[in-house]
Amino acid sequence: MGKKQSSYIQAIWDVTEALQDEVQMEKGLSVCLDILTKHAGAENGLVWLISQEDGRLHSVACAGERDLTGISVDPSKGILGRAFGSREPVQIDDAGTDPSFSSSEDQEAGVRILNTLIVPLVTRTGCFGCMQLINRADGPFSDDDRALGVNMATLMALDLEDKGYVIRYRKQKKPLIEMKGVIKEFYSGDEVIRVLKGVDLCVYEQELLVILGESGCGKTTMLNILGGMDSLTEGTMIVDGKDFSHPGEKELTEYRRDYIGFVFQTYNLMPNLTAIDNVELIAENSKEPISSEKAIEMVGLTERRNNRPSQLSGGQQQRVSIARALVKNPLLILADEPTAALDFQTGLEVLELFEDIVRRQNKTVVMVTHNAEIAKMADRVIKVRGGRISSIRINSSPVKASELSW
Ligand SMILES: Nc1ncnc2c1ncn2[C@@H]1O[C@H](COP(=O)(O)OP(=O)(O)O)[C@@H](O)[C@H]1O
Ligand SMILES: [Mg+2]
Repeated sequence: MGKKQSSYIQAIWDVTEALQDEVQMEKGLSVCLDILTKHAGAENGLVWLISQEDGRLHSVACAGERDLTGISVDPSKGILGRAFGSREPVQIDDAGTDPSFSSSEDQEAGVRILNTLIVPLVTRTGCFGCMQLINRADGPFSDDDRALGVNMATLMALDLEDKGYVIRYRKQKKPLIEMKGVIKEFYSGDEVIRVLKGVDLCVYEQELLVILGESGCGKTTMLNILGGMDSLTEGTMIVDGKDFSHPGEKELTEYRRDYIGFVFQTYNLMPNLTAIDNVELIAENSKEPISSEKAIEMVGLTERRNNRPSQLSGGQQQRVSIARALVKNPLLILADEPTAALDFQTGLEVLELFEDIVRRQNKTVVMVTHNAEIAKMADRVIKVRGGRISSIRINSSPVKASELSW
C-alpha cells in the first residue's frame, strides 16, 4: 500500500474512533477537524453547524492558530450557503481570480482566503452544516483532500444524526478582550525566548473559557497578559473596545485593580489575617467592591470567617482567594490552575464555585488548566501547544462540574 493511501486510511480510522469515543459532540467533531486539517496541510479548519435557535450557520470548532469560533453566517448566502444549500462540496482554488468568490467572504470568515474547500455534513435525511478548510499551503486542495473530506463529513453527519443531536447556538456574546497576533518574548542574558508565537484570542462576556495545554506551553504567560500582570512584546490587545496593547503604569494599575480578579494555584493569602480580613484588604483597595461579608458568603465560608489561613484546609484557603477575586466585583476573573494543589473532591467543589460564578452570577471566567477533563465544563476550550493556539471549540452542552472525574 502506498504511503499516501495508508495515511488516508489511518485518518478515516482515527475519525471513526474519535466519534465513537467522544460523548461530547463538539469534542468529537473538533478531533476530526484537527485530523483533516493536518492531513490536507490547511492553515485553518472550521466546523459550521446550523442552529435551530436562530437558523444561522455557527462556527463551533476551529483548527489552526486563529480564533474563528463564534462567527455566524446566513446559510442562504456566499460559498458556505452554496455548499449547505446544494449539499455538494464547493471548492475555490484561487480566490483572487474565481468569479464566484467575493471578498466579503473573507470578512465573514475573519481570515483572508486564498483557497478553500467546503464539504456539507449531510445524510439522507438532513444537512447539519459544513466543514471548511482554508488556505492549503501547497496550492489548491487535491482530489484526495476532497474525497477524504467528503468521507469524513459523512461519518460526522451520520454520528450527529445517530446521537439525535440538537444544535442550539445563539448569537455570540460581546467580546471583552481581543488579542491579535500576540507575541511574548523573554530575555535571559543575550538569549531571546519567544514564549507566545502569535496568539489570536477573544474572551466573550459571561463565558467560562478554559485554556488547556501541557506544562510550559505558555498558558500562564497568556493569562498574565490578559490580566495586565505582564506586557506583550508584539501584537494588539483590545479591552472593552479600547486599545490596551501598551498601557501606561497608571492605566495598568487601574486595570488590575478595577477589572480583574486573579486566583492562583497557590492561594497567596496574608497568613496573619483572618479569612474575612484577607477579603476586606482587597475590598478596601477596590473601586466598586461588594461587601466582604457577601463575598465570604458566596464561597460558603461564613462560619470560617474568623479563621486564619493556617486554620483552613487547602480548599477553604482557595475559597478565600476566590472571595478576594469576587469582592472586587471585577469584569473578568482569571484563574491559573486553581485546583492543581487540591485533592479531587475539594478540587470539584472549587470548580462548582467557578461554575456558579459564571452560570448564576453572570461573570466571565478564564481558567487555565492542564487537565483535559476540566475542559468539559467550559463554554469554549482553547488548546495551546508550544506558544500557539492549536484549536478552539465551543461546547453547546458543558458538563456539570459535579459530573467530572479524574
Ligand atoms: N520570566 C520568564 N523568563 C524566561 N522564560 C520564561 C519566563 N516566564 C515563562 N518562561 C518560559 O515560557 C514558557 C511558558 O511558560 P508558562 O506560560 O508559565 O507555561 P505554562 O503556564 O503553560 O506551564 C516556559 O518554557 C517558561 O520556562
Ligand atoms: Mg502555568
